[in-house]
Amino acid sequence: MCHVRKVHLFGGIFLIMCFLLSFNYNWWRRYQLMAPRSPPICGGRVPHDTITPLKDRRSFIISAYKDNRNRNIIRILGIVRHKEVKELYCYFCCNSNINAHTTKAEIDLHQDWFGFPYGLADIICTEPPDCTTSFVSVHSSPSTTIHNLTSFKIRNREPGKPTANFTVCISTMYGNYSNVLQFIQTIEMYKILGAQKVTVYLNNCSRQMEEVLQYYSKEGTVEVIPWQIQRYLKVSPKWQYPKDDSEIGYYGQISTLNDCIYRNMYSSKFVVLNDQDEIILPFKHQTWGSMMETLQQKNPDVGIFLFENHIFPQTAVSDGNFSNVPSWNGVPGFNLLHFIHREPGRPNHFNARKMIVDPRAVIQTSVHSTLKQYKNSNYVPLETALVHHCRAPQQPQLSRAALIEDKTIWRYNDSLIQNVNQMLQKFTENP
Ligand SMILES: *[C@@H]1O[C@H](CO)[C@@H](O)[C@H](O)[C@H]1NC(C)=O
Ligand SMILES: *[C@@H]1O[C@H](CO)[C@@H](O)[C@H](O)[C@H]1NC(C)=O
Ligand SMILES: *[C@@H]1O[C@H](CO)[C@@H](O)[C@H](O)[C@H]1NC(C)=O
Ligand SMILES: *[C@@H]1O[C@H](CO)[C@@H](O)[C@H](O)[C@H]1NC(C)=O
Ligand SMILES: *[C@@H]1O[C@H](CO)[C@@H](O)[C@H](O)[C@H]1NC(C)=O
Ligand SMILES: *[C@@H]1O[C@H](CO)[C@@H](O)[C@H](O)[C@H]1NC(C)=O
Repeated sequence: MCHVRKVHLFGGIFLIMCFLLSFNYNWWRRYQLMAPRSPPICGGRVPHDTITPLKDRRSFIISAYKDNRNRNIIRILGIVRHKEVKELYCYFCCNSNINAHTTKAEIDLHQDWFGFPYGLADIICTEPPDCTTSFVSVHSSPSTTIHNLTSFKIRNREPGKPTANFTVCISTMYGNYSNVLQFIQTIEMYKILGAQKVTVYLNNCSRQMEEVLQYYSKEGTVEVIPWQIQRYLKVSPKWQYPKDDSEIGYYGQISTLNDCIYRNMYSSKFVVLNDQDEIILPFKHQTWGSMMETLQQKNPDVGIFLFENHIFPQTAVSDGNFSNVPSWNGVPGFNLLHFIHREPGRPNHFNARKMIVDPRAVIQTSVHSTLKQYKNSNYVPLETALVHHCRAPQQPQLSRAALIEDKTIWRYNDSLIQNVNQMLQKFTENP
């Protein structure tokens, strides 16, 4: 009797142990699957958006980059309420110690906040000596617990070799963007001209545009970075402060452009900074590669090349013979090949130049020029190239005769039409 009981007892313990082991195993498996995304032992939480608000709600962290070009620093890009945020601290979780090292940050505000209360700042920290951490946290006081903070991965620690010659940075796509045909043509043009990658900061677009972005992401051309800035700040569609209750201009364009430069600093030889309705078109060369080779040979101390912007108004459909251009019916948007007239430049107006830069030569950038840099800037003459900017007219009063005929885009007819057709075929077969 007693013996039988003992057997029952051992059997029960055995079953409980099996249960505990399998439970632990499942838990361990889950932990293993999560592990690559988790910060080290003394680190805090993983960010769950491109933008992370700090507890004070006056500072918003985007990302952290190692930068040893001049000094050996960690440069954290953050949007701050610049009149108020004067003190921030970096928390480094070194060598898996339990306690974090805290250092005071230098806050270097980018000078182009255009009157808005929020602007982009470089939050600069030096790493503690012999620190091997891959994460950093930020807080407004030096004495909080790191476990409660968000840990940002420090990017660019291993620079590596470039995988692209040209990366195009499209600052922000917003407002139910639905000009699908022009976007597809533009991406195909970037590829023809020599781009391997296009980084898109996505705020909002139409459903069909989302599918096109997914297609190009799968293809490996486009990298979409979610940019839901309106969750945190009142966004203005204007670049300059309209003195209303808005907090940051133009969907945070300055922040995305700078982030894009640092993201691609070592992975791309050149970075092209323009909007989705703009294409830098060379006149003398067939590709950006051969154009940049010539420009760099002529200007060895230049790292920032600025191109004149020229408007091809979407109201001026040309009367040309378009019989060899497919109509691409059913794809919404403008057809670039229909616009071969540009507005004449206005000598007394600011020209909104766009840039091709060596990202390693740039410290801080604005939209039409850089703010801080290690190399010189150079205005590229109109004979060499222009920014083909296909949009609503800027001088709507001009008659057709006052516009300048410019058929440069037609030089790419054959390959452009073929590539767009191929893309649309694959896209509709396998969206
Ligand atoms: C950290 O978070 C916990 C729970 O979320 C909270 O109880 C604690 O007070 C926090 N500590 C600090 C220093 O903020
Ligand atoms: C970059 O350009 C060089 C020279 O034109 C070319 O040989 C190389 O294949 C290009 N790299 C990529 C990733 O396409
Ligand atoms: C764009 O905004 C609309 C309306 O607010 C929303 O339904 C849609 O999901 C948004 N699309 C994206 C890609 O954010
Ligand atoms: C977005 O644009 C598409 C295409 O133009 C349109 O069908 C849709 O109704 C728009 N959505 C919103 C929320 O405005
Ligand atoms: C347009 O060009 C095609 C050849 O590309 C030609 O066959 C056709 O006759 C032309 N049409 C007109 C109206 O000139
Ligand atoms: C490009 O297409 C247009 C419109 O069909 C045509 O008139 C022009 O001749 C073409 N140009 C070249 C270089 O093929």
